[in-house]
Amino acid sequence: MVELRDDFERKFKTLRVSLINTCNLGCVYCTCGTEDLKENHILTKEKGLSADALSAIISQLHHSLQLETVRFTGGEPLLYKDLIKIIRSVKQLGIDDLKITTNGLLLENIAGDLAKAGIKSMNVSLDAIDEDIFFKVSRRSGIHRILKGIDKAIESGIDVKLNSVVMKGLNESQILPLLDFAFKRNLKIRFLEIMAMGHLFGEADKHFFSQDEILAVINSQHQFQKLSRTSSSTANYWQTIEGKVFGIVANESEPFCGDCNRLRLDSLGNIYGCLSSNFPIAVTNIETEDELANKLQIAMWQKQSLKFTGSNLSMLNIGG
Ligand code: 5AD
Repeated sequence: MVELRDDFERKFKTLRVSLINTCNLGCVYCTCGTEDLKENHILTKEKGLSADALSAIISQLHHSLQLETVRFTGGEPLLYKDLIKIIRSVKQLGIDDLKITTNGLLLENIAGDLAKAGIKSMNVSLDAIDEDIFFKVSRRSGIHRILKGIDKAIESGIDVKLNSVVMKGLNESQILPLLDFAFKRNLKIRFLEIMAMGHLFGEADKHFFSQDEILAVINSQHQFQKLSRTSSSTANYWQTIEGKVFGIVANESEPFCGDCNRLRLDSLGNIYGCLSSNFPIAVTNIETEDELANKLQIAMWQKQSLKFTGSNLSMLNIGG
């Protein structure tokens, strides 16, 4: 079988599976304007696929691509009824590097089961430590539950990283407290530049807080040195003189499309080669390897050459 790759030598080796397109938080960068999205049929109310149906697709994709990593996302993946079942099935396909991205609200009670089912690594989205600011960003309260969930996941042996989207005028005051929180627990933290996705498409600028601005804030308290970037990584990393590591996902300032190895599968059975693409490629009723190979080629063509251009598809649909 000839391996699919493009002119940039990019291959699909990591699959991100959005299990469900709903969430129990209402973060301003993700769900604001959801009604508009529904009108435009971008955010569909259609029911997502069962664990069996999704695993069958993942199995076909793995057969063609020899995937190395699967990350479960959403929406919020902990709301997916058959989460443990699908993790187990994907592990049975022989894919060992299993990860999940969650907002952590429901984590405390399920962390142990996630670890047992095979999850090795987890990104917890946490945009504030202060309860009021957390509420402004996510329009829900419950930070104490997230913190308990994080502790439980660490106890269960999962490698936990934090993801914090930084937005000008909303939570930039949280950069240092979040860093402090992460350093105390020896957790890696990554700050994310806001991306022009969903309702923010075309107007992410008003909240944009750049990598340089984030570094300047951190520099007021810490001395650090840049680490070299590993291939296909979404983040740049720095190490403080005390040996603590933090990262920045600088989608705008320093795009990382050039060696992106990610393929996305949404909860309805569509694949996407890029977060910038609004064009779903259905892979629900594939019968032959050639048919799948054609669809994967189309997904590969969706990859941007140099930089993320934005999309009116929300992360609720396509996952992080
Ligand atoms: N810009 C940047 N990050 C976003 N996320 C969701 N929407 C956006 C956006 N528009 C983040 C979530 C999560 C990760 C998967 O993506 O907070 O941490």
